[in-house]
Amino acid sequence: MSEPRVVLVTGGNRGIGRKIAEEFLAAGDKVAVTSRNGEAPAGALAVAADVTDSASLDAAFTRIEEELGNVQIVVANAGITADNLLMRMSEEDFERVVDTNLTGVFRTVRRGITNMIRGRWGRIVLISSVSGLYGVPGQANYSSAKAGLVGMARSITRELGARGITANVVAPGFIRTEMTDELPEKKQKEYLANVPAGRFAEPEEVAKVVRWISSDEAAYISGAVIPVDGGLGMGH
Ligand code: NAI
Repeated sequence: MSEPRVVLVTGGNRGIGRKIAEEFLAAGDKVAVTSRNGEAPAGALAVAADVTDSASLDAAFTRIEEELGNVQIVVANAGITADNLLMRMSEEDFERVVDTNLTGVFRTVRRGITNMIRGRWGRIVLISSVSGLYGVPGQANYSSAKAGLVGMARSITRELGARGITANVVAPGFIRTEMTDELPEKKQKEYLANVPAGRFAEPEEVAKVVRWISSDEAAYISGAVIPVDGGLGMGH
């Protein structure tokens, strides 16, 4: 096992983020999880923070630095949806989604890189979505924010690539969560018809890719978009 790293997963109290946190914990890393309610999986340091609030993020980083050490791997996972057809989408719903899913990531990584630069090692993993580059009706806000993460990772790569820091995007497709489980069977079949793999992914399948892209083995991969979508978004 390699040396333990200090990992931060935003929105890691449930869903995909929770699995990502558990995956790093199982690998022996020191994991902090930020969430708005301060919950975290067992073994992780739980810190309350809202990605729309720079001051709360700053305080969270400071606490993690004190308790675990400088954050070396940032997984920007916190995200929301507010779907609606474009004609009916309010400016407020557009801005809210961008503020969490894009500006929230900017706030998180901006705070995170200072100590990565000092340590000359860092991994930034931005959780996007197949929706970002493929497009989904009703998700003009969400897709815009998720596509924006690609530009962000690539600019970070050009800025900080020579300092031992990589920045990559992981783009999940349909992931089996409570949300997908609750869909009527007919709807599930409709979705699956477009997925070459013929099934939804388990959250663990995303988590393992995130852990690998954060490892030393992946040191020469940066600015990449790594799909975990069973082929759904191929070519995008
Ligand atoms: P989820 O809703 O279960 O988890 C999202 C997490 O983000 C929650 O912990 C929530 O509290 C947190 N969060 C939301 N707004 C926040 C804020 N302002 N400050 C701090 N935390 C905040 O969703 P899920 O499915 O686990 O999604 C995780 C990520 O994966 C999201 O970025 C989502 O867009 C992305 N994704 C999910 C897919 C899926 O099929 N579930 C597919 C593709 C991408």
